[in-house]
Amino acid sequence: MMKTILTAGVGALLLSVGAAPALADAAAGKGVFEAKGCADCHYTDGPAKEKTIEDQLAKKGPELWYAGSKFQKDWLAGWLADPQPIRPLKFNSLTEENPADHPKLAGDEAGSVTDFLMSLTSDAVEAGSVKPKKSPKGRQIFTKKMPCSGCHQYVGRKKTIAGGRSGPSLVDAGLRLNPDWILAYMQQPEVFKPVKMMPVFTGLLSDKDMLNVARYVASFKPKK
Ligand code: HEC
Ligand code: HEC
Repeated sequence: MMKTILTAGVGALLLSVGAAPALADAAAGKGVFEAKGCADCHYTDGPAKEKTIEDQLAKKGPELWYAGSKFQKDWLAGWLADPQPIRPLKFNSLTEENPADHPKLAGDEAGSVTDFLMSLTSDAVEAGSVKPKKSPKGRQIFTKKMPCSGCHQYVGRKKTIAGGRSGPSLVDAGLRLNPDWILAYMQQPEVFKPVKMMPVFTGLLSDKDMLNVARYVASFKPKK
């Protein structure tokens, strides 16, 4: 009896020791996020706050309350240390270029802020629902049927960047975005973006085609 209790106690201790650094880093990352003024342009508490087009236009940067469901951890840590434009145009603009002036974090700060942001998740995203695949069906939807490519950049046939500039670039989206989030966003845009700047595809695309196109976008990776 005594032995069981002891073993259980040691097990719990080991578990808490194992889990502690990530939690500590998330707390430290929250501190860095606030100290560096990130919260001036990004909100991190969900659900979505914007209700009207005015709310959307008042935002200075994208919402981050579901960042842990949207992004891939390695990409996020790399991007925070060396941010490169994601949207070809300035946030909330259809005419001005992206000024490419996003604040940068030092390596250790980028690491703890990554732990903080990865701790922010949405339960509308079902883990393991999308496997990346170069689906020809997905490609056909992306480039022809619903031309996603009319608003999103991607790497076209001749390895050159093709596509429109009004939406975020999807070049290498398979390194940046969580495949499961891509599908969840298309299926339930109202959860993530209640004020829509992108057409809603529910009703236009079947569930199967939504899955096909999500798998296709998730397969966008640099060619080796
Ligand atoms: C002056 C406003 C401003 C500040 C301050 C700011 N950001 Fe941003 N952030 C933006 C804008 C605008 C974008 C979109 C950039 C793009 O598309 O290239 C962005 C994009 C992001 C993204 C990607 C989000 C997405 O959905 O594409 C992350 C993550 C992020 N910022 C984190 C941070 C962190 C961490 C800090 C603090 C070190 C910070 N930001 C400070 C305005 C800001
Ligand atoms: C009329 C232009 C337009 C079309 C067509 C369009 N999108 Fe978008 N898309 C956008 C905009 C704008 C955003 C940014 C989200 C917002 O502000 O609502 C976006 C966001 C996204 C995102 C999230 C990117 C990020 O980094 O936040 C994905 C993934 C995406 N679109 C995929 C698609 C797919 C797949 C299709 C075709 C089925 C498609 N889009 C068609 C304009 C478009």
